[in-house]
Amino acid sequence: MKRIAVLASGYGSNLEAILEAQSRGEISGKVVLVISDQENAKALERAHRRGIRKLYLDPDSYNSREEYDSKLADELNKEEIDLVVLAGFMRLLTPGFVGSFSLKILNIHPSLLPSFPGTDGIEQAYAYGVKLSGCTVHFVDEALDTGPVILQESVPVIQEETIATLKQRIQAVEHRLYPIAIELFCRDKLQTRGRRCYIVD
Ligand code: GAR
Repeated sequence: MKRIAVLASGYGSNLEAILEAQSRGEISGKVVLVISDQENAKALERAHRRGIRKLYLDPDSYNSREEYDSKLADELNKEEIDLVVLAGFMRLLTPGFVGSFSLKILNIHPSLLPSFPGTDGIEQAYAYGVKLSGCTVHFVDEALDTGPVILQESVPVIQEETIATLKQRIQAVEHRLYPIAIELFCRDKLQTRGRRCYIVD
């Protein structure tokens, strides 16, 4: 059974969706640790409520991003983590960290990458006026939102809608898609060749 750590900075609706999928038996791995860089992240509360070990790592207590990520790696290694799931974790991980967990870190992003990477993906797409938005689950590499794409699903932008309703609809898709990608990883069904990610039997 794969041991999973979820890293989250905020509300944690994706964390919740993952934990619900796990309790329905749709994820064969187990979330054993939730880490946040924000002391008051709702995600930490959600972990606590379910009896999952939670950890707050304060970025201000470290002299550099490298130092922070090395502490992060220590904590993950101590728990023998097989898969790191970024769920609204709003820090760019250092190349050293990504290198030591190569092809073991997943991220979800609320746009059809490579369009609108970075923060505010939904707002960027809305402001651009695209007719098709969506979300992407991908492996994390050294750069921002550029790793091999695992799953992607489109969400049409409705003419009269607001950013809030678009966000709601994109996140509803995220909550369904992320557990599927995580389960594919847990069952060793993901293989990458260069940038292309294949789902194998
Ligand atoms: C999600 O929509 C996720 O795609 C986005 O943050 C939100 C977190 O929501 N991530 C990014 O924008 C990463 N660049 P949650 O805390 O409710 O899961």
